Amino acid sequence: MTLEAETMSLKKENGIMSYDIKTVTIIGSGTMGNGISHVFAQCGFAVHMMDINQVALNKALATIGKNMDRQVTKGTLSEEAKNEAMGRISTYTDMAEAVADADLVVEAATENIELKLNIFRQLDEHSPAHCILASNTSSISLTRIASVTKRPGKVIGMHFMNPVPVMRLVEIINGYGTDREVTQTIVKLSEELGKVPCVVNDYPGFISNRILMPLINEAVLALQEGVAGIEEIDTIMKLGMAHPMGPLQLADFIGLDTCYSIMHVLHMGFGNQKYAPATLLANMVQAGYLGVKSGEGFYKYTPGSKELVVSDRFVSRKWD
Ligand SMILES: NC(=O)c1ccc[n+]([C@@H]2O[C@H](COP(=O)([O-])OP(=O)(O)OC[C@H]3O[C@@H](n4cnc5c(N)ncnc54)[C@H](O)[C@@H]3O)[C@@H](O)[C@H]2O)c1
Repeated sequence: MTLEAETMSLKKENGIMSYDIKTVTIIGSGTMGNGISHVFAQCGFAVHMMDINQVALNKALATIGKNMDRQVTKGTLSEEAKNEAMGRISTYTDMAEAVADADLVVEAATENIELKLNIFRQLDEHSPAHCILASNTSSISLTRIASVTKRPGKVIGMHFMNPVPVMRLVEIINGYGTDREVTQTIVKLSEELGKVPCVVNDYPGFISNRILMPLINEAVLALQEGVAGIEEIDTIMKLGMAHPMGPLQLADFIGLDTCYSIMHVLHMGFGNQKYAPATLLANMVQAGYLGVKSGEGFYKYTPGSKELVVSDRFVSRKWD
């Protein structure tokens, strides 16, 4: 990439420097990757969706189509706009091809530090020099991720919430060396996607999970100590604190393995015992009770049923 091409993609508007983003590559097409692809395609960007196999990509395309159909039924998207958006998404299993003309990459692969470091080494090698490399990580240090690239100034966190087409927040995480114009670009872009960006610094758990995960962990500790049952804990937080969902139901929705791994990041990152994951949480993860994705966590889930049923392992209560 020549200096001329590098400066060509930077523009100044109302005193704010930002890069011109047209083509976006999404790495990983799972829960978050398909939602992120959906939102970018709906907002007019060319989307290259990449995963390790075509089966995952086909499943993601089907999910995006189904979610857009729901918008069409509700009247928030026209059939024509849906078809145009779907037409903007192309799929890849080869990373070099997927990022060859990308202005921005949003990595949304599995939450595993070695896997992400490896992906960012490859992204740095294969993407154009002007390309911004963002990660949707829930907890891994952006400064650490940036350190394996030759462009730490262009590495940033773009943390979407699940489900992406519905949730309005984008938590933007500045790595230690992230360039100002890169942050400004991602702020502006998030607004173009109809989202509300909030910029934070790179500390374990950022803001969202530094506050949410200890809340969930405390709910698990209260359950473990027998202070109250699952329904009581969730009802108290829903009705007493106006939370839309109780912390134990939310943990099932996020995935107990994800909750455990984020608590581990907080525990190690701050070196403070107050972040130690609850033993009950660790046991449930070890035993494979991961919440919605495995069919059972604090509640049990039957496909097609929306009824919230407490797992049999927690139903006996002293006063029953
Ligand atoms: N699920 C959530 O609620 C949530 C919310 C915010 C952020 N996140 C973060 O988003 C990221 C993705 O989470 P998810 O829930 O979508 O996971 P997921 O398991 O649903 O999807 C991960 C996808 O990444 C793919 N993948 C794995 N290795 C890859 C590679 N080398 N190249 C390309 N693709 C690869 C997998 O095949 C899979 O399709 C994680 O970093 C997670 O912490 C998740």
